[in-house]
Amino acid sequence: MIDVKYLKEIAKDISVLYVEDEKELMENMVRLLSNFFARIDTAENGIEGLSKYQDYNYDLVITDINMPIMNGVKMAREIKAINRKQLIIVISAHDEATYLLELINLGVDSFVLKPVDVELLLDMLDKSIKLIKYARREEEYTRTLEATVEKRTEQLSQALVIVEELSTELVQRLTNAAELRDSDTGLHNRRLGFYAPALAKEIGMPQDFIEAIAFAAPLHDIGKIGIVDSILLKPGPLTREEEEIMKSHTMIGANILAGSHHARIQMTETIALTHHEKWDGSGYPRGLKGEEIPIEGRIVSVCDHYDALRMRRPYKRALSHHQAVDILLNGDERTTPSAFDPKLLEAFLRIASQFEEIFRKNQDKAKWFI
Ligand SMILES: [Fe+2]
Ligand SMILES: [Fe+2]
Repeated sequence: MIDVKYLKEIAKDISVLYVEDEKELMENMVRLLSNFFARIDTAENGIEGLSKYQDYNYDLVITDINMPIMNGVKMAREIKAINRKQLIIVISAHDEATYLLELINLGVDSFVLKPVDVELLLDMLDKSIKLIKYARREEEYTRTLEATVEKRTEQLSQALVIVEELSTELVQRLTNAAELRDSDTGLHNRRLGFYAPALAKEIGMPQDFIEAIAFAAPLHDIGKIGIVDSILLKPGPLTREEEEIMKSHTMIGANILAGSHHARIQMTETIALTHHEKWDGSGYPRGLKGEEIPIEGRIVSVCDHYDALRMRRPYKRALSHHQAVDILLNGDERTTPSAFDPKLLEAFLRIASQFEEIFRKNQDKAKWFI
């Protein structure tokens, strides 16, 4: 037994399209249905029904089978093509049973036989309304879920931008700190952050490596903060012992950065430790040779030397771009080309003009302080 009061309550926001060519049945049904549904539109054949369906998004379609112009089966097929999930109740006579299989295949699973038994019809409406409500709740849930995911994704990407900006700023401030101690080197460290990614890109390293080396290269000499002023700032040549202490900036830097879980800090550690290793094995601190030296260390080594040659120091004059390139490629009394990965030297030569541009543009220390 259907609870009519309850049915009225749950059906009041549901719209119905009723398609029927028998006038008397239509009138009786509309009278009955209007007790429950707020909106009932009617049509007298399949064409009219389909046209109304195309204009309005009905929750429920109730249709006869045998009608002029377009029958209910054809109309149901067209409607299902528009909306596979559309609920359709078919009202059919016994002699129309041949159509039933086709309708079932179309996804119509609610049938009422003529003459219409009101109790059975109400039962069918009750089931259909519950299905409609369920589908609405599901849609609402999916919409809310999608909106929540979208909002969270947005928040997450904003957080990532903040973390990225924060870490970049921290590196710049740390670089400031290192530069303050070693006032002679000016913007040497910053320029490394431009040369190194340019060279990495030229040899075809992946984007995440290029971004990581831009982050890491400026900190290659961070270990110098552990070298006493009397050695770090000494204007004249260093004694042998002082030189050894100076060389320890590689290990001090690596120690400062050791043990991180973050790939970029790990790369910074590697660079701090290996940027004075030489391709021919004559470097320090470990005397690594060739590809034993990690690629990031080899890249920074080339960039570090180019920039060091360009800078004026108490014990040496500044060189022009062409002089610096010539020394890297052909050597002089202090530099031998065998110190560098030959493939990197070739790549350096291809983009040497970029190095010149980076050096020229990054001279003004004042603008760098945050
Ligand atoms: Fe260094
Ligand atoms: Fe350096």
